[in-house]
Amino acid sequence: MKILIIGATSGIGRELARLYAGQGHTVGVTGRRNELLYSLQLEYPNHIFTACFDTTAPGATTQLERLVTRMGGLDLLLYNAGWGEPSESLDYEIDKGTVDINVNAFLEAIHFGWQYFTAQGHGHLAATSSIASNRGNRITPAYSAAKSFQSTYLEGLHIKALRTNPKIYVTDIQPGFVDTKMAKGPRFWVASPQKAARQIKHALDHHRWRVYITRRWWIIAKLFKYIPSWLYHRLG
Ligand SMILES: NC(=O)c1ccc[n+]([C@@H]2O[C@H](COP(=O)([O-])OP(=O)(O)OC[C@H]3O[C@@H](n4cnc5c(N)ncnc54)[C@H](OP(=O)(O)O)[C@@H]3O)[C@@H](O)[C@H]2O)c1
Repeated sequence: MKILIIGATSGIGRELARLYAGQGHTVGVTGRRNELLYSLQLEYPNHIFTACFDTTAPGATTQLERLVTRMGGLDLLLYNAGWGEPSESLDYEIDKGTVDINVNAFLEAIHFGWQYFTAQGHGHLAATSSIASNRGNRITPAYSAAKSFQSTYLEGLHIKALRTNPKIYVTDIQPGFVDTKMAKGPRFWVASPQKAARQIKHALDHHRWRVYITRRWWIIAKLFKYIPSWLYHRLG
């Protein structure tokens, strides 16, 4: 298989790239830190292709096209790049940066993948959203809203694919806490990036349309869904 992971220099994306490359797949990896891309390529010189660029900058689609050409095709595109900081006093720069990477750049990459897979007649689109997508959050309001955009958008594409292109699969990945530099503040049920990557790969292998990482985070997702607003607003 040919797999493109956008945001694979560290954390979950890097471990997923290792898993796929270790099994002999061709893996395209991106990020802004060239030295980390290079070290990944050194681990699997015959399987890893790299492209160093900022996914929020103009020309991201051209970068993706070039990388896919070098990989010789594409079967699975995972948009994993993400960023978010606490914005308790509603910092505009933080909120804008969060939307730039988790909404605008996500949209650009997913559109690229959708057009590519539609023309090809098959493929698999996925993104690493978050359990935070399920409810508003006063500490990271832009992050939870942006991840909500991702999850809702992917559900729409999943339905669209079922109706029009049954050989295109869509997967919405919702991690709880994973032990990377993204995870901040008080934490529980924290998974290692290796465990998260294994569970994500399993879900992708089985074409699941939504997956919680680790699996028991579905309990929190259901809690978010069913807890009445009057109670959630007092606790939140
Ligand atoms: N860790 C958690 O607890 C957790 C929970 C829920 C969801 N998630 C989601 O999981 C995904 C992966 O995060 P992680 O936890 O593995 O953290 P991470 O180690 O910080 O990984 C983030 C990845 O995104 C890339 N990235 C960030 N900004 C970018 C930009 N402007 N252009 C290109 N690449 C960019 C980073 O590469 P460069 O810095 O090299 O550019 C890095 O490879 C994110 O979407 C995050 O929102 C994480």
